Amino acid sequence: MTAFANEPTNGPSNGPTGGSANGEAIRVEGVAKRFGSVTALRDVNLRLGTGEVLGLIGDNGAGKSTLIKVLSGYHRPDRGRILIHGEPAALRSVQHARALGIETVYQDLALINSLPVYLNLHLNKEPVRWPFLRKRIMRQRARRYLDDMGINIPSVNSEVANLSGGQRQAIAVARAVYSEARILLLDEPLAAMGAKEGAIILDLIRMLRERGDVSMIIIAHNYGQIFDVCDRINLLQHGEITVDKPTSETSVEELVELVAREYRVSGLAADQGQVLADVREGAGS
Ligand SMILES: Nc1ncnc2c1ncn2[C@@H]1O[C@H](COP(=O)(O)OP(=O)(O)OP(=O)(O)O)[C@@H](O)[C@H]1O
Ligand SMILES: [Mg+2]
Repeated sequence: MTAFANEPTNGPSNGPTGGSANGEAIRVEGVAKRFGSVTALRDVNLRLGTGEVLGLIGDNGAGKSTLIKVLSGYHRPDRGRILIHGEPAALRSVQHARALGIETVYQDLALINSLPVYLNLHLNKEPVRWPFLRKRIMRQRARRYLDDMGINIPSVNSEVANLSGGQRQAIAVARAVYSEARILLLDEPLAAMGAKEGAIILDLIRMLRERGDVSMIIIAHNYGQIFDVCDRINLLQHGEITVDKPTSETSVEELVELVAREYRVSGLAADQGQVLADVREGAGS
């Protein structure tokens, strides 16, 4: 592992996040990650400009969530280099990434089911007046965040376990959005949401994009939903970025076609494999 050029002393609000080298929030160079015999990421090269919204698409199992988990400090890459705001950063943990201003909404959410909504919204940054948590402030703030976002959750005292999938997702997104992070990684933030809630989240993303100081990677399977909020689209196939295009130079139809082509090729390979197996079986009988 390389030395840490960026120690987690520079919080998102006081760090040199705005004037990053080359205007790059994230640069990924040659990142690989294996799980036993499974190669999730083969050789990923990616860049996220400051203030840019990047749509990351790809088939199931392509490695999208693994890449997000590497960038959020959850997994360590086996190989390659990550630069955050132009500085090499060997992300040690989710806390380390957070200290560098990176907040993540995981596909599997990472909320604590047994805790109420307002505590989930403040995880790891609970306001404290030693030795007490400032619960009243957290409740008020949680109510304001959710109301401002237009998210319908009757009580901030409800345990997260009792909420619907879409409501849980809204809380995870609200937590990231109100974190003052300068880099947001959103892994399928709209997956469990109804049309209205999904539109609210997309409006928020649009608003952050207009502000121009937050850089985002958004994973989604519904390309139509993210197309108009993204500046650029990257396609991840078999652990590598195979397409990198400004949104203005592609279309939903082209992206659907690119992913469908992969299905056809792998389907054809599977068919050929079956034919070969049948031939061998036939030859043996
Ligand atoms: N912790 C893990 N242990 C073992 N294998 C894993 C682990 N995490 C991911 N994988 C494997 O790595 C590959 C990539 O998985 P990943 O979750 O990154 O895909 P994805 O592109 O996010 O897919 P989806 O669109 O279905 O969410 C898959 O084959 C998956 O089974
Ligand atoms: Mg995934």
